[in-house]
Amino acid sequence: MAIKIKTAQEIQKLRLAGRLAAEVLEMIEPHVVAGVSTGELNRIMHDYMTNQQNVIPATLNYHGFPASSCISINHVVCHGIPDDNKKLKKGDIVNIDVTVIKDGYHGDTSRMFEVGDVKPFAHRLCQVAQECLWLGIEQVKPEATLYDVALAIQNHAEQQGFSVVREYCGHGIGADFHEEPQVLHYAAPELKEIVLKPGMVFTIEPMINLGKAAVKLLGDNWTVITKDRKLSAQWEHTLTVTEDGYEIFTLREGEKPVLPV
Ligand code: MF3
Ligand code: CO
Ligand code: CO
Repeated sequence: MAIKIKTAQEIQKLRLAGRLAAEVLEMIEPHVVAGVSTGELNRIMHDYMTNQQNVIPATLNYHGFPASSCISINHVVCHGIPDDNKKLKKGDIVNIDVTVIKDGYHGDTSRMFEVGDVKPFAHRLCQVAQECLWLGIEQVKPEATLYDVALAIQNHAEQQGFSVVREYCGHGIGADFHEEPQVLHYAAPELKEIVLKPGMVFTIEPMINLGKAAVKLLGDNWTVITKDRKLSAQWEHTLTVTEDGYEIFTLREGEKPVLPV
């Protein structure tokens, strides 16, 4: 199956879905404090999406996922399940990942939050993961390949002494949540065959580990953790390839590229 090229009408819908997903992360930011439970954060986002935005939370019941967001703390890599009994505490790093469906089209984005003051190495991991996202994004233009994107991400992560998760990746996105291609974040040779064209829409969402790259799936069949129980960080945007580069659909208010100095 080929990678779909979106029409101008589809791009317009994806632009709106992306903006709405970004607004969920903007809205939740002041609520991400020590003492709040991830179940409560999920409830606030669910209510905002369904009552204020009139969007569908795409993760809810997706292959059986039980919540309207994924909330992944510290050594949880991705797909953390919100839980009323799981409270944030000072020093935690936490990823919140939301996907909305508006008028049949998806917008998918995530970011890290630092709860109070976090250890310098935890802050550094969050920063490098964000730099990895932006280094990948900056590779996006017609005739570049997904190999260029992945190589930029892997090089930066590993130069900083961190590792890139192999088992989970970014993805094409549109009327379906997860479409072709698979956007790997490490330099797999087969990515050289995936040449970017205007109208392609996909996510970039590197998961960067403080220690080793290996992950394991918990018994709930959703929560992914690092095998060595060290920290993991992830940032995600949805973007399209334009005639001369890229357009990010999930940019937050005032957000600027974060690149290594
Ligand atoms: N939002 C995640 C992604 O970036 C997918 C979550 S699927 C779920 O692709 F089922 F875990 F919610
Ligand atoms: Co995604
Ligand atoms: Co996501």
